[in-house]
Amino acid sequence: MTSREVGIADRLEGKRICVVAGSGGVGKTTASAALALGLAAAGKRVAVVTIDPARRLADALGLEELGNEPRMVDPALLETHGIAMRGELWAMMLDPKATFDELIGTLAPDARTRDDVLGNRIYAQLSSAIAGSQEFSAVAKLYDLDRSGLYDAIVLDTPPSRNALDFLDAPDRLTDFFEGRALKLFLVPTGIAAKVMGAGTGVVFGILKKLTGVNLLDDVSVLFRAMGGLIDGFRERAAAVKALLADPATTFLIVASPEREPVAEAIFFRQKLREARMPFGGLIVNRVALLGADEHGDPAAIRAELAGTLGDALAAKVAQSAQDVQLLAARNTAAVERLKSALDEPDPIVVPRLDGEVQDIDGLLVLYRHLAGGV
Ligand SMILES: Nc1ncnc2c1ncn2[C@@H]1O[C@H](COP(=O)(O)OP(=O)(O)O)[C@@H](O)[C@H]1O
Ligand SMILES: [Mg+2]
Repeated sequence: MTSREVGIADRLEGKRICVVAGSGGVGKTTASAALALGLAAAGKRVAVVTIDPARRLADALGLEELGNEPRMVDPALLETHGIAMRGELWAMMLDPKATFDELIGTLAPDARTRDDVLGNRIYAQLSSAIAGSQEFSAVAKLYDLDRSGLYDAIVLDTPPSRNALDFLDAPDRLTDFFEGRALKLFLVPTGIAAKVMGAGTGVVFGILKKLTGVNLLDDVSVLFRAMGGLIDGFRERAAAVKALLADPATTFLIVASPEREPVAEAIFFRQKLREARMPFGGLIVNRVALLGADEHGDPAAIRAELAGTLGDALAAKVAQSAQDVQLLAARNTAAVERLKSALDEPDPIVVPRLDGEVQDIDGLLVLYRHLAGGV
């Protein structure tokens, strides 16, 4: 199970964009960073977009919360970890709200429209509340980075969705929202909205105004008027983003760990990729408990052997823990087998459960070596 011939670099040959998907906590963010580091070391200009990285990982990569643009990880720093950096590693932490704002700025026909939207109180609520906004922002950012032409490869970590499908659906959902009936009603000046606004809604807004001193109705009408000019741009952008996800130069890596829920999610996501005709680049099974060379012994024999020197009580404990480790390894192996057949992926990349957390440059290197197929 541990010997592999095809490492991650070979699997990603000819791919410009690699989306790392899987359920929460399986190691997506860490694997994305490790992968980007490895590809960069090998000579590519790589950008990795991380989402909510652990603090220590963010610090290790010099990621900053502000900026929303990739920054180059200092090659001199990487060299102190023994990495001969032949390419460039650029890393960023996604700021969904800033990405959304940037998009408004790009799509707005003029500065006034942009400012009307960005300065609007309703927009401030809306932009962070739109379902799937984080997913959409991630792909929108991906699109911008790809278009910039600055990178040979982009690795996109994905949000901790409850449902991996949110990510694939995000462009569609956002287009639906902007094309949606609710919005259209607002946009037709003489339509139902105008009448409704004049009646019941107006009363509500009137009360709000009395209570808060803020005339939200003005905000609503300004926002929707301004948004009207953005709809076509949004539709086009969502279509372009969707096309990028389906591009032959894009691939999805699915990360799972050997527990029940991540396994189920990986199977589900693979199925969804197939249905959506999206490219599947391979499966990484992370944090797999593997037995060391000296951990295969029969627990009963261990107990008998140690009883003389340790006493039976202690020997029994040692035997029990050996049994637990073996049981876990057997379960994990079974999970890997299940994934292999369910995903029709005979040769997944199996990464062992490493000691401690993988949150610094050295840890990423170790992880990358596993991804690359060596140990
Ligand atoms: N192979 C591994 N062995 C041990 N710990 C790991 C391994 N891969 C990831 N981790 C740890 O698991 C935790 C979750 O990883 P993370 O990349 O944040 O997951 P996700 O992005 O999928 O939510 C982190 O603390 C990380 O250091
Ligand atoms: Mg993560």
